[in-house]
Amino acid sequence: MSLRELDMLLGRLPPPRMRPEDLDALAAGWPEALDRARIVGRARFSDQGYCRDILHRTAGWEVLLVGWLPGQRSAPHGHGESFGVTCLLEGALTEVVYRLAPGGQVMRAERHVHRAGSVFREQPHTIHHVEHTGRSRTISLHLYAPPLERMELYEGSTGTSHPRASGRREPKRSTSVR
Ligand SMILES: [Fe+2]
Repeated sequence: MSLRELDMLLGRLPPPRMRPEDLDALAAGWPEALDRARIVGRARFSDQGYCRDILHRTAGWEVLLVGWLPGQRSAPHGHGESFGVTCLLEGALTEVVYRLAPGGQVMRAERHVHRAGSVFREQPHTIHHVEHTGRSRTISLHLYAPPLERMELYEGSTGTSHPRASGRREPKRSTSVR
């Protein structure tokens, strides 16, 4: 599936909301169903931080392409109301999952390494951060429904941390290609 085909498919899906099961169905064939070579050609990179491009966005969902260089990472975050599916197109990412402790603190609970071809899911209640711990570039494709309008952000990257704010924080670089 090329980006154009993915775009056309998404455009045919009934707005305004994609349900979690629709999202699963769409991503069921990933990454084989994707035209990986063409999609990775769209990824951008910067030493200032990971590059995040919106490939498709409606009121009900959005598709993002993220280019990561070694050492780049997201802040620990929740997902508001959004369900997500992420596919590693190239390279590898380490996902650190946190659990919510009484009092609203979060503590590190699990660590997963996702490599090229892996697909992982995010629930609204998932709290995690994602980091590039490899040596070469990494490219990930993300589908969120609804779009990530609201994220809970947490201070700190180790141990226990408190929510910092609610609301979407713009990444260091984010552009729409549509
Ligand atoms: Fe996330």
